[in-house]
Amino acid sequence: MTKINFVHFKFLPMSMRVLFSMVLLVFGVGYLMAMIQVWENHAGKDGDPMLSAKDLMIAYSGNPDGTKLETALRGSMADMLPDEKRQVIFEWLHSGADEDTFTSKIDPVLQEHCVMCHSPDANPHLPNFTSPEGVAKVTARDEGMNLHTLIRVSHIHLFSITFIFFITGFIYTHAHVRPTWLKCVVLAVPFATLITDVASWYLTKVWTGFAWVVILSGALMGFSFAIMWITSMWQMWFYRVPEHIIENEGRIPCVHREN
Ligand code: HEC
Repeated sequence: MTKINFVHFKFLPMSMRVLFSMVLLVFGVGYLMAMIQVWENHAGKDGDPMLSAKDLMIAYSGNPDGTKLETALRGSMADMLPDEKRQVIFEWLHSGADEDTFTSKIDPVLQEHCVMCHSPDANPHLPNFTSPEGVAKVTARDEGMNLHTLIRVSHIHLFSITFIFFITGFIYTHAHVRPTWLKCVVLAVPFATLITDVASWYLTKVWTGFAWVVILSGALMGFSFAIMWITSMWQMWFYRVPEHIIENEGRIPCVHREN
């Protein structure tokens, strides 16, 4: 029986191995950057600087005891102003966010430390702190990421990550991995977890426990990526190809055989 087999890395032209390696290298750096981005965006929302499930619950479903302003000032905006001034804002928020204190104490802080970015001239997509309405938007109860943002982020995520794992997986198909089912599972996991990850962003709004599914999905996705990356790089440059593959002119047999 003749079947089309995958050619092992070592039997691919040098140019192709260089191409594959460079793509993997850039994807590896990209993955690291993505992790830093997740950290920067979510860590510390609950007050504890580590990234936790609570942070993700707040990011997606909101914070029942907080406002967007407080969440941001405990997270990505924490370094934008001195700590004493941050405390003044927290006290103001916790004591009912009255208008007089806003005018006398809070607004000056926003004007000094925030409006250089938070104004329509600087960045029309950020909450605008030059108007009271703009400030009111972030002092209302934190409902988490709104549906509009979630839909935008999910479609970008679904399309772009599929490309990354298609390319990474395609490269990895040239590796010799037994049993075959294991190779297939490693190839399939990133796509399955991509869907459970994105679905859980929405589901976290319904039940915050889904934050754990977001974490588990992300972890499994990263684990598969690491396996494919390391196996591919290793087999491309350092691996000793088994005898039976050499005899088979580099083709990895599809049909199981003893070796
Ligand atoms: C250097 C520019 C810059 C400065 C200064 C800055 N911000 Fe931001 N801010 C951003 C950017 C960019 C985002 C969106 C990305 C993010 O959340 O990290 C943001 C997001 C926010 C959000 C979240 C908005 C949302 O819809 O969830 C709040 C609240 C916020 N900033 C408050 C502040 C406050 C208060 C200050 C001043 C103490 C401040 N920012 C200073 C750039 C800035």
